[in-house]
Amino acid sequence: MRKVKVIRKAVFPVAGMGSRFLPATKASPKEMMAIVDKPLIQYAVEEAVAAGITDMIFITGRSKRSIEDHFDKAYELEAELEKRGKAELLRITREVIPDGINCIYMRQSEPLGLGHAVLCAQAVIKDEPFAVILADDFMVAEASAVTQQMVQVYEKHFNSVLAVHDVPRDQTRQYGIVSSVRVNDELEQVTGIVEKPEPEEAPSTLAVVGRYILTPRIFHHLQNVKPGAGGEIQLTDAISALIEEERVLAYRYHGERYDCGSKLGYLQATVASGLSHPEVKEEFAEYLRNLNLGA
Ligand code: UTP
Repeated sequence: MRKVKVIRKAVFPVAGMGSRFLPATKASPKEMMAIVDKPLIQYAVEEAVAAGITDMIFITGRSKRSIEDHFDKAYELEAELEKRGKAELLRITREVIPDGINCIYMRQSEPLGLGHAVLCAQAVIKDEPFAVILADDFMVAEASAVTQQMVQVYEKHFNSVLAVHDVPRDQTRQYGIVSSVRVNDELEQVTGIVEKPEPEEAPSTLAVVGRYILTPRIFHHLQNVKPGAGGEIQLTDAISALIEEERVLAYRYHGERYDCGSKLGYLQATVASGLSHPEVKEEFAEYLRNLNLGA
């Protein structure tokens, strides 16, 4: 394998059904749902930018318009804000997409699964390693963002890297679960991976979350995997084939993850972000304190 040193490209699969959030996701993707005042997809793109990534590849499905519009210039809105002298709002609107960032949109014609969505990016990625960021896994990190942490791991080892964390055993059926051998406190070498195992069959409780660095060899395996769990082309199955040929690392990331593909996770993320948002944190904290939660 050619050792490419930098990760320049990130894939954002945003073509899922988002059925757990209907009717909110009837006409717009769940990745456009906002945590306080910013859509999930913008947090994800900001995480990629912080990791030095310049090419953002969105795999879109139905109702892609809102994402394209969000990362495009909003001439009429900007003119209106300018006219009204709303300088701060104008700045926020313009900074949605920083200079030097390329946005590329590709269509997944049918939601055939996460693996299929990633495969759609092959023509743009070609033979480079790349990041995959699932925007509905909302990550809050203290120092460096989770994708940046993973890029650093890649730059040291030149292997695929999966973000993992330990989950309670009764939740294994919600995740891809790895079996592994310890490399150090943060890293494991993956020896096996299985999608959504029942708790009694799970090889461990180490679960993969929505951040990956993958070598381009993954495309070969994505082309060959058959539909797996739920009848979908599973990224997990392609990774399972990849570990037969290449070292794949599992990285225990530093940060807090909120599963914003679920209602509970989305509400938890909203509360956590509200409590740290510079504009509302004090009032919001007071509001929560005054809620008669025991009643
Ligand atoms: P999920 O399985 O969490 O998303 O996929 P979903 O299918 O949209 O949600 P529910 O279960 O119906 O509520 C994880 C990520 O992969 C993307 C989704 O957009 C999400 O970011 N995805 C999934 C695709 O882009 N294409 C697919 O075919 C499937």
